[in-house]
Amino acid sequence: MKISFSEKMDLPKSGMLAIGIEEGGHLPPAARTVDEASGGAVSRALAGNRFNGKKGDSLTLVAPAGMECARIVLFGVGKGLQQLDWLSLGGKLVKAGNGAGDKQVAILLDCGAEDLAAAASDMAEGAMLGAYRFDKYFTKQKADEKPSVKTLSVHVAAAADARKAFKPRAAVVDGVYLTRDVVSEPPNVIYPETLANVCKELEELGVKVDILNEKKMAKLGMGALLGVGQGSVRESFLVSMRWDGGAKNKAPVAFVGKGVTFDTGGISLKPGPGMEEMKWDMGGSGTVIGLMKALAGRKAKVNAVGVVGLVENMPDGNAQRPGDVVTSMSGQTIEIHNTDAEGRLVLADALWYTQQEFKPKAIIDLATLTGAIIISLGHEHAGLFANDDALAEQLSVAGKASGEEVWRLPMGDAYDKLLTSDCADMKNIGGRAAGSITAAQFLQRFIKDTPWAHLDIAGMAWGSKDKPTSPKGATGYGVRLLDRYVSDVHEA
Ligand code: BES
Ligand code: MN
Ligand code: ZN
Repeated sequence: MKISFSEKMDLPKSGMLAIGIEEGGHLPPAARTVDEASGGAVSRALAGNRFNGKKGDSLTLVAPAGMECARIVLFGVGKGLQQLDWLSLGGKLVKAGNGAGDKQVAILLDCGAEDLAAAASDMAEGAMLGAYRFDKYFTKQKADEKPSVKTLSVHVAAAADARKAFKPRAAVVDGVYLTRDVVSEPPNVIYPETLANVCKELEELGVKVDILNEKKMAKLGMGALLGVGQGSVRESFLVSMRWDGGAKNKAPVAFVGKGVTFDTGGISLKPGPGMEEMKWDMGGSGTVIGLMKALAGRKAKVNAVGVVGLVENMPDGNAQRPGDVVTSMSGQTIEIHNTDAEGRLVLADALWYTQQEFKPKAIIDLATLTGAIIISLGHEHAGLFANDDALAEQLSVAGKASGEEVWRLPMGDAYDKLLTSDCADMKNIGGRAAGSITAAQFLQRFIKDTPWAHLDIAGMAWGSKDKPTSPKGATGYGVRLLDRYVSDVHEA
Protein backbone atom coordinates (compact mmCIF):
# COMPACT_ATOMS: atom_id res chain seq x y z
CA MET A 1 0.00 0.00 0.00
CA LYS A 2 1.40 3.36 -1.09
CA ILE A 3 0.75 6.29 1.21
CA SER A 4 0.79 9.94 0.24
CA PHE A 5 -0.20 13.27 1.74
CA SER A 6 -1.30 16.27 -0.25
CA GLU A 7 -3.00 19.58 0.23
CA LYS A 8 -5.02 19.70 -2.90
CA MET A 9 -7.44 16.96 -3.72
CA ASP A 10 -8.29 15.66 -7.14
CA LEU A 11 -11.60 13.89 -6.80
CA PRO A 12 -10.76 10.16 -6.73
CA LYS A 13 -11.48 8.22 -9.92
CA SER A 14 -12.40 5.02 -8.10
CA GLY A 15 -12.58 3.42 -4.69
CA MET A 16 -13.44 5.21 -1.49
CA LEU A 17 -13.46 8.80 -0.47
CA ALA A 18 -13.63 9.20 3.30
CA ILE A 19 -14.52 12.52 4.88
CA GLY A 20 -14.19 13.40 8.56
CA ILE A 21 -17.30 14.99 10.07
CA GLU A 22 -17.42 16.76 13.43
CA GLU A 23 -20.21 16.18 15.91
CA GLY A 24 -23.10 18.38 14.86
CA GLY A 25 -22.95 16.94 11.39
CA HIS A 26 -21.77 19.98 9.43
CA LEU A 27 -20.00 19.55 6.18
CA PRO A 28 -16.40 20.67 6.71
CA PRO A 29 -15.28 23.49 4.39
CA ALA A 30 -12.85 21.36 2.38
CA ALA A 31 -15.63 18.94 1.50
CA ARG A 32 -17.69 21.54 -0.34
CA THR A 33 -16.19 20.71 -3.72
CA VAL A 34 -17.17 17.10 -3.12
CA ASP A 35 -20.67 18.17 -2.25
CA GLU A 36 -20.92 20.31 -5.36
CA ALA A 37 -19.54 17.56 -7.59
CA SER A 38 -22.12 15.16 -6.23
CA GLY A 39 -24.96 17.60 -6.77
CA GLY A 40 -25.38 18.15 -3.05
CA ALA A 41 -25.63 14.44 -2.25
CA VAL A 42 -23.30 14.71 0.74
CA SER A 43 -25.15 17.55 2.41
CA ARG A 44 -28.49 15.88 1.67
CA ALA A 45 -27.24 12.67 3.25
CA LEU A 46 -26.09 14.59 6.30
CA ALA A 47 -29.39 16.36 6.63
CA GLY A 48 -31.51 13.29 6.10
CA ASN A 49 -29.76 10.81 8.39
CA ARG A 50 -29.37 10.21 12.05
CA PHE A 51 -25.58 10.22 11.60
CA ASN A 52 -24.30 13.45 13.07
CA GLY A 53 -20.55 12.97 13.31
CA LYS A 54 -20.44 11.14 16.62
CA LYS A 55 -17.11 9.46 17.30
CA GLY A 56 -17.11 5.93 15.93
CA ASP A 57 -20.21 6.39 13.73
CA SER A 58 -20.10 6.44 9.95
CA LEU A 59 -22.38 6.80 6.96
CA THR A 60 -21.72 5.35 3.52
CA LEU A 61 -23.03 6.84 0.27
CA VAL A 62 -22.77 4.32 -2.54
CA ALA A 63 -22.02 5.37 -6.13
CA PRO A 64 -22.64 9.08 -5.60
CA ALA A 65 -24.08 10.77 -8.69
CA GLY A 66 -21.66 12.94 -10.62
CA MET A 67 -18.58 11.31 -9.09
CA GLU A 68 -16.36 8.53 -10.31
CA CYS A 69 -15.53 6.97 -6.94
CA ALA A 70 -17.48 3.94 -5.76
CA ARG A 71 -18.44 5.27 -2.34
CA ILE A 72 -18.17 8.17 0.03
CA VAL A 73 -17.75 7.31 3.69
CA LEU A 74 -18.51 10.03 6.20
CA PHE A 75 -16.75 9.19 9.47
CA GLY A 76 -17.52 10.86 12.77
CA VAL A 77 -14.70 12.48 14.70
CA GLY A 78 -16.98 13.61 17.54
CA LYS A 79 -15.67 16.62 19.37
CA GLY A 80 -12.11 15.67 18.49
CA LEU A 81 -10.12 12.46 18.63
CA GLN A 82 -7.06 11.28 20.52
CA GLN A 83 -3.99 9.74 18.93
CA LEU A 84 -5.07 6.13 19.46
CA ASP A 85 -8.49 6.90 17.96
CA TRP A 86 -6.82 8.17 14.79
CA LEU A 87 -4.73 5.02 14.56
CA SER A 88 -7.72 2.75 14.82
CA LEU A 89 -9.73 4.91 12.43
CA GLY A 90 -6.98 4.55 9.82
CA GLY A 91 -7.06 0.80 10.32
CA LYS A 92 -10.84 0.64 10.05
CA LEU A 93 -11.01 2.67 6.83
CA VAL A 94 -8.48 0.47 5.08
CA LYS A 95 -10.31 -2.61 6.30
CA ALA A 96 -13.54 -1.20 4.88
CA GLY A 97 -11.76 -0.47 1.59
CA ASN A 98 -10.39 -3.99 1.43
CA GLY A 99 -13.79 -5.40 2.28
CA ALA A 100 -15.37 -3.53 -0.61
CA GLY A 101 -12.55 -4.29 -3.04
CA ASP A 102 -11.46 -0.67 -3.41
CA LYS A 103 -8.05 -0.06 -4.94
CA GLN A 104 -7.85 3.54 -3.81
CA VAL A 105 -8.72 5.11 -0.52
CA ALA A 106 -8.67 8.90 -0.28
CA ILE A 107 -9.21 10.63 3.05
CA LEU A 108 -10.27 14.23 3.42
CA LEU A 109 -9.26 15.48 6.82
CA ASP A 110 -9.94 18.98 8.03
CA CYS A 111 -11.54 18.59 11.43
CA GLY A 112 -11.28 16.62 14.64
CA ALA A 113 -7.87 17.67 15.94
CA GLU A 114 -5.86 20.79 16.63
CA ASP A 115 -2.85 19.27 14.94
CA LEU A 116 -4.31 17.82 11.77
CA ALA A 117 -0.90 16.95 10.34
CA ALA A 118 -0.26 14.70 13.34
CA ALA A 119 -3.73 13.20 13.00
CA ALA A 120 -3.10 12.50 9.31
CA SER A 121 0.16 10.77 10.14
CA ASP A 122 -1.53 8.74 12.87
CA MET A 123 -4.28 7.65 10.47
CA ALA A 124 -1.71 6.56 7.94
CA GLU A 125 0.20 4.65 10.61
CA GLY A 126 -2.98 2.90 11.73
CA ALA A 127 -3.85 2.10 8.13
CA MET A 128 -0.47 0.46 7.58
CA LEU A 129 -0.68 -1.47 10.83
CA GLY A 130 -4.16 -2.72 9.95
CA ALA A 131 -3.27 -3.62 6.36
CA TYR A 132 -0.70 -6.26 7.33
CA ARG A 133 -1.21 -9.74 5.89
CA PHE A 134 0.76 -12.96 6.21
CA ASP A 135 -0.56 -14.90 3.25
CA LYS A 136 2.55 -16.14 1.49
CA TYR A 137 1.71 -19.81 1.99
CA PHE A 138 -1.74 -19.72 0.40
CA THR A 139 -1.38 -21.01 -3.13
CA LYS A 140 -5.07 -20.80 -3.97
CA GLN A 141 -6.12 -17.48 -2.53
CA LYS A 142 -9.18 -16.08 -4.26
CA ALA A 143 -8.95 -12.58 -5.67
CA ASP A 144 -11.68 -11.36 -3.32
CA GLU A 145 -9.69 -12.54 -0.30
CA LYS A 146 -6.63 -10.53 -1.19
CA PRO A 147 -6.28 -7.01 0.15
CA SER A 148 -7.33 -4.67 -2.66
CA VAL A 149 -6.23 -1.25 -1.40
CA LYS A 150 -3.09 -0.18 -3.24
CA THR A 151 -2.99 3.53 -2.51
CA LEU A 152 -3.99 5.65 0.43
CA SER A 153 -3.93 9.40 0.00
CA VAL A 154 -4.60 11.75 2.86
CA HIS A 155 -5.66 15.29 2.04
CA VAL A 156 -4.82 17.70 4.80
CA ALA A 157 -3.88 21.37 4.92
CA ALA A 158 -0.38 20.93 6.37
CA ALA A 159 0.60 18.05 4.11
CA ALA A 160 4.33 18.71 4.39
CA ASP A 161 4.13 18.47 8.19
CA ALA A 162 2.15 15.25 7.92
CA ARG A 163 4.75 13.79 5.57
CA LYS A 164 7.51 14.75 7.98
CA ALA A 165 5.68 13.28 10.97
CA PHE A 166 4.93 10.07 9.10
CA LYS A 167 8.45 9.26 7.95
CA PRO A 168 9.75 7.92 11.28
CA ARG A 169 6.39 6.26 11.96
CA ALA A 170 6.66 4.34 8.69
CA ALA A 171 10.04 3.06 9.89
CA VAL A 172 8.44 1.89 13.13
CA VAL A 173 5.68 0.12 11.21
CA ASP A 174 8.39 -1.59 9.12
CA GLY A 175 9.75 -2.90 12.42
CA VAL A 176 6.30 -4.12 13.46
CA TYR A 177 5.94 -5.87 10.09
CA LEU A 178 9.27 -7.63 10.55
CA THR A 179 8.20 -8.83 14.00
CA ARG A 180 4.89 -10.08 12.65
CA ASP A 181 6.65 -11.83 9.76
CA VAL A 182 9.14 -13.76 11.87
CA VAL A 183 6.53 -14.68 14.49
CA SER A 184 4.11 -15.89 11.79
CA GLU A 185 6.65 -18.01 9.92
CA PRO A 186 6.38 -21.73 10.63
CA PRO A 187 9.02 -23.37 12.82
CA ASN A 188 10.55 -25.33 9.94
CA VAL A 189 11.34 -22.00 8.29
CA ILE A 190 12.28 -19.87 11.28
CA TYR A 191 14.65 -21.73 13.61
CA PRO A 192 17.71 -20.43 15.47
CA GLU A 193 20.02 -20.21 12.47
CA THR A 194 17.49 -18.62 10.12
CA LEU A 195 16.33 -16.18 12.78
CA ALA A 196 19.97 -15.22 13.34
CA ASN A 197 20.16 -14.57 9.59
CA VAL A 198 17.20 -12.20 9.88
CA CYS A 199 19.15 -10.29 12.57
CA LYS A 200 22.15 -10.17 10.26
CA GLU A 201 20.07 -8.43 7.59
CA LEU A 202 19.74 -5.42 9.89
CA GLU A 203 23.37 -4.63 9.08
CA GLU A 204 22.00 -2.94 5.95
CA LEU A 205 20.50 -0.30 8.23
CA GLY A 206 23.73 0.28 10.12
CA VAL A 207 23.08 -2.14 12.99
CA LYS A 208 26.17 -3.99 14.23
CA VAL A 209 25.35 -7.65 14.53
CA ASP A 210 27.36 -10.24 16.43
CA ILE A 211 26.41 -13.93 16.35
CA LEU A 212 27.64 -16.42 18.94
CA ASN A 213 27.42 -20.10 18.02
CA GLU A 214 27.32 -23.02 20.46
CA LYS A 215 31.10 -23.28 20.64
CA LYS A 216 31.47 -19.64 21.65
CA MET A 217 28.62 -19.88 24.13
CA ALA A 218 30.15 -22.97 25.70
CA LYS A 219 33.39 -21.03 26.15
CA LEU A 220 31.45 -18.29 27.93
CA GLY A 221 29.85 -20.90 30.18
CA MET A 222 26.25 -20.50 29.04
CA GLY A 223 25.16 -23.86 30.39
CA ALA A 224 21.58 -22.75 31.03
CA LEU A 225 20.85 -21.66 27.45
CA LEU A 226 22.80 -24.54 25.91
CA GLY A 227 20.97 -27.12 28.03
CA VAL A 228 17.67 -26.08 26.47
CA GLY A 229 18.95 -26.47 22.92
CA GLN A 230 20.84 -29.72 23.45
CA GLY A 231 17.92 -31.93 22.42
CA SER A 232 17.55 -30.18 19.09
CA VAL A 233 19.37 -31.07 15.87
CA ARG A 234 19.40 -27.34 15.17
CA GLU A 235 22.27 -25.31 16.60
CA SER A 236 21.53 -22.64 19.20
CA PHE A 237 22.67 -19.03 18.76
CA LEU A 238 22.87 -15.85 20.73
CA VAL A 239 22.75 -12.67 18.67
CA SER A 240 23.44 -9.11 19.72
CA MET A 241 22.41 -6.13 17.62
CA ARG A 242 23.76 -2.67 18.36
CA TRP A 243 22.35 0.59 17.17
CA ASP A 244 24.65 3.46 18.11
CA GLY A 245 22.61 6.52 17.30
CA GLY A 246 23.37 8.37 20.54
CA ALA A 247 26.35 10.16 22.03
CA LYS A 248 29.62 8.22 21.99
CA ASN A 249 30.48 6.46 25.26
CA LYS A 250 26.94 6.78 26.54
CA ALA A 251 25.76 3.51 28.09
CA PRO A 252 23.11 1.82 25.98
CA VAL A 253 19.62 0.74 26.87
CA ALA A 254 19.31 -3.02 26.36
CA PHE A 255 16.44 -5.19 25.14
CA VAL A 256 16.65 -8.94 25.58
CA GLY A 257 14.28 -11.43 23.93
CA LYS A 258 13.33 -15.06 24.46
CA GLY A 259 13.74 -16.80 21.14
CA VAL A 260 12.52 -20.36 21.54
CA THR A 261 11.72 -21.01 17.89
CA PHE A 262 9.65 -24.02 18.90
CA ASP A 263 8.73 -25.15 22.40
CA THR A 264 7.64 -28.78 22.62
CA GLY A 265 8.27 -28.66 26.36
CA GLY A 266 11.23 -31.02 25.88
CA ILE A 267 11.15 -34.22 27.97
CA SER A 268 8.41 -32.56 30.07
CA LEU A 269 6.46 -32.74 26.82
CA LYS A 270 3.49 -30.48 26.24
CA PRO A 271 0.11 -32.01 25.36
CA GLY A 272 -0.45 -32.44 21.61
CA PRO A 273 -3.51 -30.24 21.01
CA GLY A 274 -2.47 -26.66 20.41
CA MET A 275 1.24 -27.43 20.38
CA GLU A 276 1.55 -25.76 16.96
CA GLU A 277 1.02 -22.45 18.76
CA MET A 278 4.46 -22.83 20.30
CA LYS A 279 6.02 -21.50 17.10
CA TRP A 280 5.26 -18.12 18.67
CA ASP A 281 7.58 -18.84 21.54
CA MET A 282 10.21 -16.69 19.86
CA GLY A 283 7.83 -13.71 20.14
CA GLY A 284 10.06 -11.86 22.61
CA SER A 285 13.03 -12.06 20.28
CA GLY A 286 10.79 -11.17 17.35
CA THR A 287 9.86 -7.95 19.12
CA VAL A 288 13.48 -7.14 19.94
CA ILE A 289 14.49 -7.67 16.29
CA GLY A 290 11.58 -5.53 15.02
CA LEU A 291 12.40 -2.85 17.57
CA MET A 292 16.03 -2.69 16.45
CA LYS A 293 14.82 -2.34 12.87
CA ALA A 294 12.47 0.45 13.93
CA LEU A 295 15.15 2.36 15.86
CA ALA A 296 17.70 2.04 13.07
CA GLY A 297 15.11 2.80 10.41
CA ARG A 298 14.13 6.07 12.01
CA LYS A 299 17.72 6.82 13.03
CA ALA A 300 16.83 7.13 16.70
CA LYS A 301 19.22 9.27 18.72
CA VAL A 302 19.92 6.52 21.19
CA ASN A 303 22.45 3.82 21.89
CA ALA A 304 20.46 0.63 22.04
CA VAL A 305 21.38 -3.01 22.06
CA GLY A 306 19.12 -5.95 21.34
CA VAL A 307 20.11 -9.45 22.44
CA VAL A 308 18.20 -12.59 21.50
CA GLY A 309 18.74 -16.14 22.74
CA LEU A 310 17.74 -18.52 19.96
CA VAL A 311 17.06 -22.18 20.72
CA GLU A 312 14.65 -24.97 19.88
CA ASN A 313 13.27 -26.98 22.82
CA MET A 314 12.95 -30.60 21.66
CA PRO A 315 12.72 -34.03 23.29
CA ASP A 316 15.48 -36.34 22.11
CA GLY A 317 17.94 -38.93 23.33
CA ASN A 318 20.33 -36.12 24.07
CA ALA A 319 17.73 -33.76 25.54
CA GLN A 320 18.04 -32.24 28.98
CA ARG A 321 16.25 -34.25 31.73
CA PRO A 322 14.25 -33.19 34.75
CA GLY A 323 16.78 -33.62 37.54
CA ASP A 324 19.75 -32.32 35.54
CA VAL A 325 21.83 -29.58 37.10
CA VAL A 326 23.26 -26.92 34.80
CA THR A 327 25.71 -24.12 35.50
CA SER A 328 24.75 -20.72 34.11
CA MET A 329 27.17 -18.10 32.81
CA SER A 330 26.70 -16.25 36.11
CA GLY A 331 28.17 -19.28 37.91
CA GLN A 332 24.87 -20.04 39.65
CA THR A 333 23.67 -23.61 39.36
CA ILE A 334 20.12 -24.59 38.42
CA GLU A 335 18.34 -27.86 39.05
CA ILE A 336 15.95 -28.55 36.18
CA HIS A 337 12.57 -29.64 37.53
CA ASN A 338 10.61 -29.09 34.36
CA THR A 339 12.19 -28.88 30.92
CA ASP A 340 9.14 -26.88 29.78
CA ALA A 341 10.22 -23.94 31.97
CA GLU A 342 12.94 -23.28 29.38
CA GLY A 343 12.51 -19.62 28.54
CA ARG A 344 13.90 -18.46 31.88
CA LEU A 345 16.97 -20.67 31.31
CA VAL A 346 17.62 -19.02 27.96
CA LEU A 347 17.10 -15.56 29.43
CA ALA A 348 19.30 -16.28 32.46
CA ASP A 349 22.37 -16.47 30.25
CA ALA A 350 21.20 -13.83 27.77
CA LEU A 351 20.61 -11.33 30.60
CA TRP A 352 23.93 -12.07 32.25
CA TYR A 353 25.80 -11.78 28.96
CA THR A 354 24.08 -8.49 28.14
CA GLN A 355 25.09 -6.93 31.47
CA GLN A 356 28.69 -8.18 31.22
CA GLU A 357 29.17 -7.21 27.61
CA PHE A 358 27.30 -3.92 27.29
CA LYS A 359 26.98 -2.45 30.82
CA PRO A 360 23.54 -1.07 29.97
CA LYS A 361 21.89 1.72 31.95
CA ALA A 362 18.61 -0.18 31.83
CA ILE A 363 17.64 -3.64 30.67
CA ILE A 364 14.21 -4.77 29.52
CA ASP A 365 13.45 -8.34 28.58
CA LEU A 366 10.48 -9.66 26.64
CA ALA A 367 9.32 -13.25 26.71
CA THR A 368 6.33 -15.47 26.06
CA LEU A 369 7.31 -16.84 29.43
CA THR A 370 4.29 -18.28 31.22
CA GLY A 371 0.82 -19.55 30.44
CA ALA A 372 -0.11 -18.21 33.87
CA ILE A 373 0.13 -14.60 32.70
CA ILE A 374 -2.72 -15.31 30.26
CA ILE A 375 -4.81 -16.54 33.19
CA SER A 376 -3.98 -13.33 35.11
CA LEU A 377 -4.23 -10.65 32.45
CA GLY A 378 -5.78 -12.23 29.39
CA HIS A 379 -4.90 -10.56 26.12
CA GLU A 380 -5.17 -6.94 27.22
CA HIS A 381 -1.94 -6.27 29.13
CA ALA A 382 1.53 -7.72 29.19
CA GLY A 383 2.73 -8.59 32.68
CA LEU A 384 5.32 -6.11 33.92
CA PHE A 385 7.86 -6.96 36.61
CA ALA A 386 10.60 -4.57 37.66
CA ASN A 387 13.25 -3.92 40.26
CA ASP A 388 12.95 -0.18 39.64
CA ASP A 389 9.82 1.95 40.15
CA ALA A 390 10.89 4.70 37.77
CA LEU A 391 11.45 2.24 34.93
CA ALA A 392 8.13 0.54 35.66
CA GLU A 393 6.36 3.90 35.52
CA GLN A 394 8.07 4.89 32.27
CA LEU A 395 6.91 1.65 30.66
CA SER A 396 3.36 2.10 31.95
CA VAL A 397 3.24 5.60 30.50
CA ALA A 398 4.61 4.41 27.15
CA GLY A 399 2.09 1.57 27.23
CA LYS A 400 -0.86 3.91 27.61
CA ALA A 401 0.47 6.24 24.93
CA SER A 402 1.11 3.50 22.39
CA GLY A 403 -1.96 1.43 23.22
CA GLU A 404 0.33 -1.53 23.99
CA GLU A 405 -0.42 -1.71 27.66
CA VAL A 406 1.37 -3.29 30.59
CA TRP A 407 0.25 -4.14 34.11
CA ARG A 408 2.71 -4.37 36.96
CA LEU A 409 2.70 -7.39 39.24
CA PRO A 410 4.42 -7.71 42.60
CA MET A 411 7.74 -9.35 43.39
CA GLY A 412 9.37 -10.17 46.72
CA ASP A 413 11.46 -12.49 48.86
CA ALA A 414 8.58 -14.79 49.77
CA TYR A 415 8.13 -15.59 46.07
CA ASP A 416 11.85 -15.92 45.55
CA LYS A 417 12.07 -18.59 48.28
CA LEU A 418 9.81 -20.85 46.23
CA LEU A 419 12.79 -21.44 43.94
CA THR A 420 14.87 -23.12 46.64
CA SER A 421 16.37 -26.40 45.48
CA ASP A 422 17.65 -29.36 47.52
CA CYS A 423 20.71 -29.84 45.40
CA ALA A 424 21.59 -26.63 43.52
CA ASP A 425 21.42 -22.84 43.95
CA MET A 426 17.86 -22.85 42.62
CA LYS A 427 15.35 -24.92 40.70
CA ASN A 428 13.75 -23.69 37.50
CA ILE A 429 10.12 -23.72 38.67
CA GLY A 430 8.37 -22.47 41.79
CA GLY A 431 5.22 -24.58 41.75
CA ARG A 432 1.64 -23.89 40.69
CA ALA A 433 1.10 -20.76 42.74
CA ALA A 434 2.05 -17.37 41.25
CA GLY A 435 3.66 -18.96 38.21
CA SER A 436 4.40 -15.71 36.38
CA ILE A 437 5.88 -14.11 39.47
CA THR A 438 8.19 -17.00 40.34
CA ALA A 439 9.37 -16.95 36.72
CA ALA A 440 10.20 -13.25 37.13
CA GLN A 441 11.96 -13.98 40.44
CA PHE A 442 14.07 -16.53 38.65
CA LEU A 443 15.12 -13.94 36.06
CA GLN A 444 15.92 -11.41 38.77
CA ARG A 445 18.55 -13.76 40.15
CA PHE A 446 20.50 -12.99 36.98
CA ILE A 447 20.28 -9.21 37.30
CA LYS A 448 23.10 -7.41 39.07
CA ASP A 449 22.23 -3.84 40.04
CA THR A 450 20.98 -2.64 36.66
CA PRO A 451 17.45 -1.18 36.52
CA TRP A 452 15.53 -4.05 34.97
CA ALA A 453 12.04 -4.78 33.74
CA HIS A 454 10.58 -8.02 32.46
CA LEU A 455 7.56 -8.11 30.13
CA ASP A 456 5.72 -11.42 30.03
CA ILE A 457 4.03 -11.20 26.61
CA ALA A 458 2.62 -14.73 26.39
CA GLY A 459 -0.90 -13.29 26.02
CA MET A 460 0.08 -10.49 23.66
CA ALA A 461 2.38 -11.81 20.94
CA TRP A 462 -0.49 -13.43 19.09
CA GLY A 463 -4.15 -12.44 18.74
CA SER A 464 -7.04 -14.67 17.78
CA LYS A 465 -9.28 -11.73 16.79
CA ASP A 466 -8.98 -9.03 14.17
CA LYS A 467 -8.40 -5.58 15.64
CA PRO A 468 -8.31 -2.32 13.66
CA THR A 469 -4.52 -2.03 13.86
CA SER A 470 -3.62 -5.69 14.09
CA PRO A 471 -5.24 -8.41 12.06
CA LYS A 472 -5.56 -11.75 13.80
CA GLY A 473 -2.24 -13.52 14.12
CA ALA A 474 1.12 -12.10 15.15
CA THR A 475 0.55 -8.68 16.68
CA GLY A 476 4.07 -7.28 16.80
CA TYR A 477 3.26 -6.26 20.37
CA GLY A 478 6.00 -4.33 22.09
CA VAL A 479 7.69 -2.66 19.13
CA ARG A 480 5.59 0.51 19.35
CA LEU A 481 5.59 0.40 23.16
CA LEU A 482 9.38 0.26 23.40
CA ASP A 483 9.91 2.68 20.54
CA ARG A 484 7.78 5.11 22.52
CA TYR A 485 9.71 4.38 25.71
CA VAL A 486 12.97 5.08 23.86
CA SER A 487 11.76 8.34 22.39
CA ASP A 488 10.19 9.55 25.66
CA VAL A 489 12.99 8.55 28.00
CA HIS A 490 16.23 8.24 26.05
CA GLU A 491 15.90 10.75 23.25
CA ALA A 492 14.09 13.54 25.07
N1 BES B 1 6.30 -20.94 26.20
C1 BES B 1 5.67 -21.36 27.40
C2 BES B 1 4.68 -20.34 27.94
C3 BES B 1 3.42 -20.15 27.15
C4 BES B 1 2.33 -20.96 27.37
C5 BES B 1 3.32 -19.15 26.21
C6 BES B 1 1.16 -20.77 26.67
C7 BES B 1 2.16 -18.97 25.48
C8 BES B 1 1.07 -19.78 25.71
C9 BES B 1 6.72 -21.61 28.46
O1 BES B 1 7.94 -22.06 28.01
C10 BES B 1 6.17 -22.66 29.35
O2 BES B 1 6.00 -23.76 28.89
N2 BES B 1 5.88 -22.31 30.60
C11 BES B 1 5.34 -23.23 31.52
C12 BES B 1 6.04 -23.03 32.83
C13 BES B 1 5.75 -24.12 33.83
C14 BES B 1 6.35 -25.42 33.37
C15 BES B 1 6.33 -23.70 35.15
C16 BES B 1 3.84 -22.91 31.64
O3 BES B 1 3.46 -21.74 31.57
O4 BES B 1 3.06 -23.85 31.75
MN1 MN C 1 7.99 -24.17 27.79
ZN1 ZN D 1 8.46 -21.54 26.13
